[in-house]
Parts: sequence; C-alpha cells; structure tokens
Amino acid sequence: MKKRVGIEALAVAVPSRYVDIEDLARARGVDPAKFTSGLGAREMAVTDPGEDTVALAATAAARLIQQQGVDTSRIGMLVVGTETGIDHSKPVASHVQGLLKLPRTMRTFDTQHACYGGTAGLMAATEWIASGAGAGKVAIVICSDIARYGLNTAGEPTQGGGAVALLVSEQPDLLALDVGLNGTCTMDVYDFWRPVGRREALVDGHYSINCYLEALSGAYRGWREKALEHGLVRWSGTMPGEQLARIAYHVPFCKMARKAHTQLRLCDLEDAVGPGPGTPEAREEVAKSSASYDAQVATSLGLNSRIGNVYTASLYLALAGLLQREGAQLASQRIGLLSYGSGCMAEFYSGVVGEKAAERMARADLEGVLARRERVSIEEYERLMKLPSDSPEAKAPAPGTFRLAEIRDHKRIYVEGGAA
Ligand code: CAA
Repeated sequence: MKKRVGIEALAVAVPSRYVDIEDLARARGVDPAKFTSGLGAREMAVTDPGEDTVALAATAAARLIQQQGVDTSRIGMLVVGTETGIDHSKPVASHVQGLLKLPRTMRTFDTQHACYGGTAGLMAATEWIASGAGAGKVAIVICSDIARYGLNTAGEPTQGGGAVALLVSEQPDLLALDVGLNGTCTMDVYDFWRPVGRREALVDGHYSINCYLEALSGAYRGWREKALEHGLVRWSGTMPGEQLARIAYHVPFCKMARKAHTQLRLCDLEDAVGPGPGTPEAREEVAKSSASYDAQVATSLGLNSRIGNVYTASLYLALAGLLQREGAQLASQRIGLLSYGSGCMAEFYSGVVGEKAAERMARADLEGVLARRERVSIEEYERLMKLPSDSPEAKAPAPGTFRLAEIRDHKRIYVEGGAA
C-alpha cells in the first residue's frame, strides 16, 4: 500500500508587536479603505532586530515540539525555507538545531527560492518520507521570513514577519498530501528580488502580480492534468477547481488570493469543453464570482490579514487559518494549495484534511499567539524599522521565545525566555 505522508501538526510564531493598518494609512495620507478593502489588510506584524529569522524559526519549532509532544529523537530532517536568512553560508537550520538541542544525526539545510522556499522544503521532506529513505523518522520544515520593503514605499502596507513550523510524517493528522500529482511552473523574471547586501526587497509590484497569475496558471493546469488522470476531479457538472473543498493560496496581501482564485477559475473556463460562457468578457464575469471566492477561499485569510506577508510562510499561514476555522468540517475533504515564489516558481498541490485536524489545531492555540502581541504606534514602528540590523536592543524574550541578543566576532548569540 502507498504510504500516507503529509503534515501532522503545525505551530506559528509571530513578532511581539504589530501596527493597525488604518493607523499606517492615516500616517501616509492614504484613504484607509485602500489598505483594508483594496489590499485586504487589518494589521501588520512589526519586527525589531532581536526578532530575526533564526529567532522566529526557533520559536516556532520549539512551540511545535512542546505543544504537540514531539519525540525529538524521531526527527531525521530539519529544513528551513527562507529568503531572509542571516548568513551567506551557515544555514538558519543549524542555528535551530543548536538552540533546540535537536539530534546530531539529522539532515539539516535551508532552501531558497523567494516565497517558494518553504514549499521546496516541504516537498523534499515529503518525498524523503514517501520514498522510504526516512526509515520511519519525521521531518520538521520551518518557513521563516521578515517581509521588508521600507518606509514610504508602495510595498510598505504589505510587510510582515513570522514563522510556521510543520511536522511532516506518516501520520498526516492535518493534511495527507497527494504525492506525485503536483503541478509546477517556473520562469526567469525580475518581479521581486533582493540583491546581496540589501536589507529591503526591490519589487516591480504590478508586474509581480502578473507573474504570479501566469505561473499559477501553469502550475494549476499541471496539477489538473494529473488529478484528472487519477480521477480526483472530472470535467462534468462543476469545473475541476470547484471540486476542491477549499483552496489556500500564497498570500503576499489578502486581495491577491481573490485575484489568484479568479485566475484559477479562468483556466477552467478557458479549457472547458462544451457549452459555457463564450466570450472572454463573459468568462471573466463568471471567474470573478464572489460566491465561489467566499465558499472556497475567504475563510483561509484570518491570520494573513492580521500578520501581513511572511513570504515563505504566507501559504502555510493560510492553511493554518483555514484549519483553525474549519478543521472539523473539512475532515476527509480534499483541498488545493498554491505556492508562489518570485523569480519565479509556482507549485499547485492537493491533499486530504485529516480527521484529527481540529484537535491538532486547538493545541496550536493561534488565538493565544496573536493575543500576546502589543499594538504599537506608527512612530514606534518607524523607530524600530530604522534600527540597524546588527545591534538588537536589550529586551528579555517572552517565555518560550528566542531573541538575538548580540553579534560577537561575527557570531550571533541568541537567548531564550523562561518556560512557556
Ligand atoms: N478604496 C478602496 N480600494 C482602493 C482605494 C480606495 N480608496 N484606492 C485603491 N484601491 C484599490 C485599487 O483599486 C487596487 O485594487 P485592485 O488591484 O483590485 O484593482 C488596490 O487597492 C491596490 O491599489 P494600487 O494597485 O493602486 O496599489 P499600489 O500601486 O500602491 O501597490 C502593490 C499595490 C503593487 C500590491 C504594492 O503594495 C506592492 O508592490 N507590494 C509588494 C509586491 C507584492 O506583494 N506582489 C505580489 C505578487 S509577488 C509575490 O506574491 C511574492 C511575494 O510574496 C512578494
């Protein structure tokens, strides 16, 4: 029998501070409706130099192990997907291994392809287990990033930060993946990039949206072809995309999920055989259906709208938000997931929600994680943004979290808060 492999549990770590997105709009002299309804944002996570990619990754992984009672001796692989790593050579994963005292027998590495890096790690771990090479061990995949475009830029309201840690195993209580059916699409484009040495990303914003949509089309069609072959979906009655109970998208800002869903529906409408909306205008109208968006997508965006973009982790925040809200009712149902990384790469895949999803998500205590944050003023946010990345302010880490304390002789020293 083919192995069942996928995500057993997850944990989320967020920075300790956030701003209200309407405060940011007012400070920039912008109509708040542009950020709330135009981009779909409510709040935006704010990091300080002590809350770097390593600190957030270690906090998420420690939380996963503690909340879900993971036997650390069973971890055989630790992967960190990130595009905001802290060293050209030493991976974030090795810091996490040391900070959490994880087994020296593990395979550890980082994966990078903009926001797609976490999915690359998840697929490496999944295929390692599915192939039998993992020999019964489990993997932890951490997506950790700080999205930073800079003050007074068009990208400013789409910043954020945080980490999601995924436990990948042969007991996929959250999501059993349809291994081998993924659709992929890659193109060499300059839509979003961060040249070596720069702290802020460069982005061709509107072009990046078009690249996302084009890559999504390729990846979705690739998945659909295999899903049709395997009888997971069919061209009859409803469209193939409509046969997925929910679809979680990469969410650089919440409104992007709506655009992505319209595009996915357009792919089905354009490729459908038989009678349907004949003209491109009529197809566009059907694709935009709010009813379909509300039914298949809207419930996944609760966490994203309160945290902002977390690059590699954004798709997994959407998955977490979806299962937090609808884990029980989605049990045994198939959902779709679309990962996108600029540069660019998209991957569409699917999986079946586990019977224990709601129970696992309750242990992740996502409401508690968000409730412990502090709302700060725009003045404080701007002060934190201007701090140099290599000299963190002295601040005791909250219980159960990690912080960068100092950089000594080019080595990063982290401290851990008391018991959670
Ligand atoms: N009330 C309501 N809505 C309003 C409004 C108002 N007063 N004013 C404007 N809007 C709407 C606009 O109509 C628009 O909606 P539509 O896209 O549906 O038409 C929306 O608000 C945004 O307005 P603009 O397009 O004028 O906004 P902008 O030019 O200032 O920038 C942005 C938007 C391009 C997303 C910018 O924030 C940006 O560059 N962000 C970073 C790049 C990004 O996130 N790209 C996504 C794809 S790449 C990717 O996914 C990888 C990744 O993670 C980065």
